[in-house]
Amino acid sequence: MKHFINLKDIAVKDLRKILVDAKKRKADRQNLNHLQTDKGAPLKGKLLIQMFEKSSLRTRLSFYLAIKQLGGGTLTLRSNELHLGEGGESIADTAKILSTYGDGFMLRTDSDLKIENFKKYMTIPIINGLSPLSHPTQILSDIYTVEEIKKKPISKLNIAWIGDSNNVLNSLISASVKFNFKLSIGCPKNYQPNKSLLAWAEKTNKKIYVYHDTKKAVFNADVIFSDKVISLNDKVNKKKKLSDFKKFRITQKLLSYAKKDCSFLHCLPRGNEVDEMVFFSKKSKVWQQALNRIHVQKSILLYCFGKLR
Ligand code: CP
Ligand code: NVA
Repeated sequence: MKHFINLKDIAVKDLRKILVDAKKRKADRQNLNHLQTDKGAPLKGKLLIQMFEKSSLRTRLSFYLAIKQLGGGTLTLRSNELHLGEGGESIADTAKILSTYGDGFMLRTDSDLKIENFKKYMTIPIINGLSPLSHPTQILSDIYTVEEIKKKPISKLNIAWIGDSNNVLNSLISASVKFNFKLSIGCPKNYQPNKSLLAWAEKTNKKIYVYHDTKKAVFNADVIFSDKVISLNDKVNKKKKLSDFKKFRITQKLLSYAKKDCSFLHCLPRGNEVDEMVFFSKKSKVWQQALNRIHVQKSILLYCFGKLR
């Protein structure tokens, strides 16, 4: 049984296989409607249970469409509607029930430990749909989008990140090791990337740079990533954090330090970290990026269900 919890723990050959499968499936369903099934309906009859402890638009919809297009279905739960969320049932018992009623479990949670605990007791695959430490389905899909836009392996590109040192950046750092690309991070001094993850990553990837100057971080970049300064359930002084990131906005001026044909990506939802002129410019590929999540997550599901071609 294969889980999809952190990119760090998944073999690069499997990650690459997922991307190859997604490309083929996307091409094969050009003329199909949202709810039409892929040829062969490889997950016919399978149920993916999704549970959200935090808000979601894209992850929820893209997993719904992903499993539908593979022939299966979803059931979406809010943890506060379960005994678990009310504190009246253990993770072990909840996991047992989920494993007998469903075939896969996608969880968006405020606790990485909770995912680990579910993993201990589940007998069906678990997918991390965003946790404090990572957002692996987002970043694998973003790797796909980068290669689709640039028509090159990501290892040949300069990737920049401007913004908070959060879950999305953590997954991007893990991906930079798996796919061996240059990653330049631009963040304020007091918002350094996760120390232990960076130490792990730098053992293999010698092309990770951390700057506190946005111009240096985006210099010669092919793709610039960003994310909200304030993440879901961020327990910080929001006013102070936003003020600390004042100089870390993506503007047209900043883009002039990157390659002429650089692209801008953002997982969404957005805050004020990106100028509207950039967000709605031709360089911004955010809608293509959001849509690709369906295609890549289909192949992630197939990987988890042991059905990847
Ligand atoms: N990017 C992303 O995960 O969006 P949602 O929070 O809307 O799912
Ligand atoms: N870093 C953001 C990503 C949202 C998709 C958050 O955790 O809220």
